[in-house]
Amino acid sequence: MEYYAVRGGHPLEGAVAVHGAKNSALPILAAALLAEGESVIHNCPDLTDTAGALEILTSLGCRVTREGRTVRVDTTCRQGWAVPDRLMGQMRASVLFLGSLLARSGRAEACWPGGCALGSRPIDLHIRAFQALGAQVLDREGRLFCRADRLRGRHLALPFPSVGATENTMLAACGAEGVTILDNAAREPEITDLQGFLRSMGAEVSGAGTSQIRIRGGLPLHPGSYTVMADRIVTATYLCAVAAAGGEGELLGADGTMLAPVVDTLRLAGCQVEQRPDRLWICRKDPLQPVGTVITGPYPAFPTDAQPLLAAVLAAGQGESRIVETIFDQRFRYTQELKKMGAAISVEGSAARITGRPLRGAQVEAADLRGGAALVIAALAAAGDSRIHGLEHLDRGYESLDQDLAALGAGIQRTTR
Ligand code: EPZ
Repeated sequence: MEYYAVRGGHPLEGAVAVHGAKNSALPILAAALLAEGESVIHNCPDLTDTAGALEILTSLGCRVTREGRTVRVDTTCRQGWAVPDRLMGQMRASVLFLGSLLARSGRAEACWPGGCALGSRPIDLHIRAFQALGAQVLDREGRLFCRADRLRGRHLALPFPSVGATENTMLAACGAEGVTILDNAAREPEITDLQGFLRSMGAEVSGAGTSQIRIRGGLPLHPGSYTVMADRIVTATYLCAVAAAGGEGELLGADGTMLAPVVDTLRLAGCQVEQRPDRLWICRKDPLQPVGTVITGPYPAFPTDAQPLLAAVLAAGQGESRIVETIFDQRFRYTQELKKMGAAISVEGSAARITGRPLRGAQVEAADLRGGAALVIAALAAAGDSRIHGLEHLDRGYESLDQDLAALGAGIQRTTR
């Protein structure tokens, strides 16, 4: 069984390139189904989640090739409309294929996506959007059957700015005749990336990054070509690693403007952070300071995916801070593992109270992607040796977290027992 062996307690120094964004690449890979022919996606990260998306495309008859970080998807021989159960169970983002399958073939079938370590993960907002565009959606013995003889553009609003429901509506609307206007859309940068790829296919999409997105559907689309943005949450991970361990780091290709609340909070904690032309620079020499209360929320608020990362930084600092999680109902489970390193964290409902103190190395287990990253960050700050198990969760979202952190000067190695 593999684990990360970490020797913590010393400052970092180094530079690392930030790979492409998982949560951009996944909807873009689903969007490739919208046109016949070969689409090219550059800077597509090589992760278990993107490998899962490529497996779904292959199961639908597409020819998929990867050369480094360039992926080619040829949909010429596409067939069928069912997302394989194994992949739907493994990766919730598989739900994004429903929108593009509906748009392209008028049919989509899948088992219900499972919950995960973050809590229940319903898809009611996705289904309501499909129905608003004219699709019938049936639940037969726990399977989802979507069918649309004709999708029609509509003016609709999401009750909550769900990232996935926004993306699925954009994908389905590309196959709906007429104009779709989506109000209360999610504003995450990954949605702007999806809009960029759809435009490269000839789609008429505008408004991504704002709360109102407009799609003119029913147009003939051709294969697209696009370069995926740098991963915001991987960037936040490396910022928090340097913040927690101390020292100095350069994140090549990183764009801090998409992480303003994270950057502002780390500055409040005592870090210097500067955006340079092609990199983000961070330095922390003085002791970490408490930051008051941080509340997660839909973009542009503090991102829920960076919540565990910040908690690890604050746990290794000093003074009392609070984090309120408003997006997921079970996103503090990792704190039980942080306590094994001596972290002083008390969770009540949706709020975690963190009192910074020196941490010590321990054996800990990751249970989800970003909670696992938080354990690695804490281990870098902790005095002594740690072992982090559950690397299958980390491999979903980091190409090579150990190698990247080692490039920043961390004492970390992937080890097999
Ligand atoms: C996306 O998940 C991301 N995943 C998540 O990253 C991220 O944490 C989340 O957005 C919030 O930023 C991908 O992009 C692949 P939501 P998504 O729909 O789309 C509720 C990772 O591993 N909800 O914005 O599933 C939902 O339960 C993941 O990279 C409904 O109630 O997030 C949650 O409480 C972790 N009904 C809230 O909305 C629905 O139909 C936000 O969910 C859909 C969502």
